[in-house]
Amino acid sequence: MRILVTSALPYANGDIHLGHLAGAYLPADVYVRYQRLKRRDVIYICGTDEHGVPVTISAEKQGKAPREIVDRYYKSISKSFSDFGMTFDNFSRTSLPVHHRLAQDFFSRIYEKGFIYPKEIEQFYCDECKRFLPDRYIVGKCPKCGNDGARGDQCEACGHWLEPFELIDPRCGICGKTPRKTRTKHWYFKLSEFQDKLNAWISSRKDWKETVLSFVHGWLREGLQDRPITRDLAWGVPVPLDEARGKVLYVWFDAPIGYISSTIEWSQKQGKPDRWKDYWLDKNTRLVHFIGKDNIVFHALIWPAMLMAYGDYVLPADIPANQFLNLEGGKFSTSKDYAIWLPDYLKDFKADSLRYALTRNAPEARDTDFTWRDFQVWHNNELADILGNFVNRTITFVKKYYGSAVPEASSFSERDNRILDMLKNAPATVGSRIEKFEFKNGLQEVMKIAQEGNRYFDYEEPWSTRKKDPAACAKTINVCMRIVTALSALVDPFLPFTAKRMKEMIQITPEGWDDIAQAKYAGEVGETSILFNKIGDDVIRMQVDRLKKEMIDLDYFSRVSLKSAKILAAERVEGSKSLIKCQVEVGDQKKQIVAGIGKDYKPEDLLGKTIVIVDNLQPAKIRGVLSEGMLLAAVDDKGVVVVTTDKMVSSGIQIR
Ligand code: 2FM
Ligand code: ZN
Repeated sequence: MRILVTSALPYANGDIHLGHLAGAYLPADVYVRYQRLKRRDVIYICGTDEHGVPVTISAEKQGKAPREIVDRYYKSISKSFSDFGMTFDNFSRTSLPVHHRLAQDFFSRIYEKGFIYPKEIEQFYCDECKRFLPDRYIVGKCPKCGNDGARGDQCEACGHWLEPFELIDPRCGICGKTPRKTRTKHWYFKLSEFQDKLNAWISSRKDWKETVLSFVHGWLREGLQDRPITRDLAWGVPVPLDEARGKVLYVWFDAPIGYISSTIEWSQKQGKPDRWKDYWLDKNTRLVHFIGKDNIVFHALIWPAMLMAYGDYVLPADIPANQFLNLEGGKFSTSKDYAIWLPDYLKDFKADSLRYALTRNAPEARDTDFTWRDFQVWHNNELADILGNFVNRTITFVKKYYGSAVPEASSFSERDNRILDMLKNAPATVGSRIEKFEFKNGLQEVMKIAQEGNRYFDYEEPWSTRKKDPAACAKTINVCMRIVTALSALVDPFLPFTAKRMKEMIQITPEGWDDIAQAKYAGEVGETSILFNKIGDDVIRMQVDRLKKEMIDLDYFSRVSLKSAKILAAERVEGSKSLIKCQVEVGDQKKQIVAGIGKDYKPEDLLGKTIVIVDNLQPAKIRGVLSEGMLLAAVDDKGVVVVTTDKMVSSGIQIR
């Protein structure tokens, strides 16, 4: 059987954050890595979603052309995915000609079959911005849940898929003005025609996730309506009809077709241009779409209807959508920059620590929350103390007392046999969890084995049997090495970088899932190193602080009065190494300001400097000394640098 796995194509309008990873990417990668270790015929297909309003809005906000935006983020998303250990067989782009051609072919064929028809409709138009307002260009209150940030095509709060006219109190997403309605022509997909077929198909999907089925049944009960699949935009796949000149395909019409075009690109790169057909045109292919819950309607109803309309192609076998990951109690938000971005994370930490935390806390059945504190605790107390510690103590023992050669065992006790049985069953136990998309449980099963390993090591006390009973010690270490060997395979889908290092340490060449797990041991151990160094509180505090900044508007900012000030006198605050008390002139006023700059400045160095102060800060006593403002300074781990003006200016000047 062939397995074709996809992850939702991320919009090329920003970087990937942890919410994305937990939803559609990491679970898919774990699944695919496992299938490869099982030596199954599997390919993993993805790419960037480069069209649509999400891209054009980002481009407009940054004053750039859409092309520039998608090029930039295609590069940066590909790089951070690969640094995170994602193993796509192909990572394509929907702006490529191969995709445009296929999307147009798709449209034309289902148009010819009569599943697409034109219709004159009213559309919102903003007189201020002089443009039509499709999709995210219009915002308002969701008619379903009342969320005031719903967009013209979907409410992200409740997942309701909507038409712009359903919005309550619609506003232009760019300038906020109330738009007017104008007439235009768009092409509709006859979704309603597929109601019965979809009903029947979905009823046969009994083993899908409960959360996915309940969403889908809800929509089916409401009744499916035809939807416009063209847009008045200058960026996208042109509609392949003469009378639709200037219009492009709705991004949600072209994006899923990207799964096929990316597979075609993969075949072409291999010099076997027809290979994609083995997957897409074979009804026995197991097509699995990994997505977040906001994408369910598109993947479980619209896309299957498109595939049914086209004919030929295989339908999804499963859609293991995840719920949302929240961040420190709040929602991830790109526009508010409230997120942990993957490239930032990877500058400071290892990929596997995050792969662990996100799997351990995967939003498989309900929304979950990511906190830096959990991340630290799981890294330190589980990865380092349980897994890392067990591997390290075992291998170090072999190196130190057996000259790196793994000792033979002569006989096994009942306790030993229990451990060996556990190892024998582990590939099937963990594997069955992964195949059911229960990654969290699968990982837990793996960690249980490491924990058992530590317990066994403690119980057997090889450090004391080494002299008293060498045969017992040899057996203990032999069993421990079997556990390490099994773990090196079992952690592989979850923690691939760690697995690689473990396999290097025990000198086994990477092989399949079942065989390594069953491997007795490898003759000699190689170089060892600590798998996980502990993460300190200070490092975590810095990450938490980073998240605290919020976006403010101009109005808010203007409430802070920043002024130039001249330092007339300065002296140390008695009994403090870091505090300096400055007398400053602010126009015709005199003020006293206490600042924590004493470690980096001598009072005399400050005299005569023109600095920047917050003038309207509530006066306060610092160490009993009155401070009537705050001076601005750059602070990092190297020390404090006071902000001064580039050229001489008088004191008391407003700084904006
Ligand atoms: O929600 C999103 O980020 C979309 N870009 C997902 C597209 S999935 C697929 F259909 F391409
Ligand atoms: Zn406007």
